[in-house]
Amino acid sequence: MPGLGVNVDHVATLRQARGGIEPDPVWAASVCEQAGSDSIVAHLREDRRHVNDADVWALKKSVKTRFNLEMSINPGIVEVAKRLRPRQATLVPERREELTTEGGMSVVKYAGRIGKAVDALKRKGIEVSIFIDPDEREIGAVKKIGADTIEIHTGRYCLAGTKAAADREFKKIKRSVDYALGLGLVVNAGHGLDYVNVKRIAGIEGVNELNIGHSIISRAVFTGLRAAVREMKRLVK
Ligand code: PXP
Repeated sequence: MPGLGVNVDHVATLRQARGGIEPDPVWAASVCEQAGSDSIVAHLREDRRHVNDADVWALKKSVKTRFNLEMSINPGIVEVAKRLRPRQATLVPERREELTTEGGMSVVKYAGRIGKAVDALKRKGIEVSIFIDPDEREIGAVKKIGADTIEIHTGRYCLAGTKAAADREFKKIKRSVDYALGLGLVVNAGHGLDYVNVKRIAGIEGVNELNIGHSIISRAVFTGLRAAVREMKRLVK
């Protein structure tokens, strides 16, 4: 059974909408852990659009399970990660204009630059995972540059418009998991997973952890809204 890593970026996004202090992603992380999440994920973007430096330092101190810092290989971000020393770092591609991470790292193409970041982080004792598309060439390249873990991008499976397309994408993911396990890599998966599409991915044997953010925080609005309104109504009365 895979573990669950919860991404708390969206809590910080809501905080940033008002520029204040709530909702606090660090408090959210603690609630997630109490509810059973196996790790906490936060993406420190180059533009700090949601999670900021103070958040990642607070998460490093307060997370009791495992703090997984999502990050690009931008030299400034790598320096922050080297000082912070989270338990795990997941390398992702990052474009300023994107709404969310749009695809996997091109490890085949940028092996030199990515390999340097992997070495620098590993020297600090940080476990390194690389977010890649379900592609055997990319998996082989990850193995070559010495990272121990991959996170397979499930976005195309999740966004498939037809059952046939979802089946095709699922097969690619399944093949990639088997291939990576055969090379001795730890295999995580994530992006776009929700309360409907997660079961099939969770059922793939050998997957270590699923990283999920948007669907959980979206669901939390509705599972929590009734209680929040009742509490305010009591105060207003
Ligand atoms: N994994 C990675 C590498 C991501 O970049 C993201 C999005 O921040 C996720 C998982 C979680 O994706 P979602 O928010 O769609 O569940």
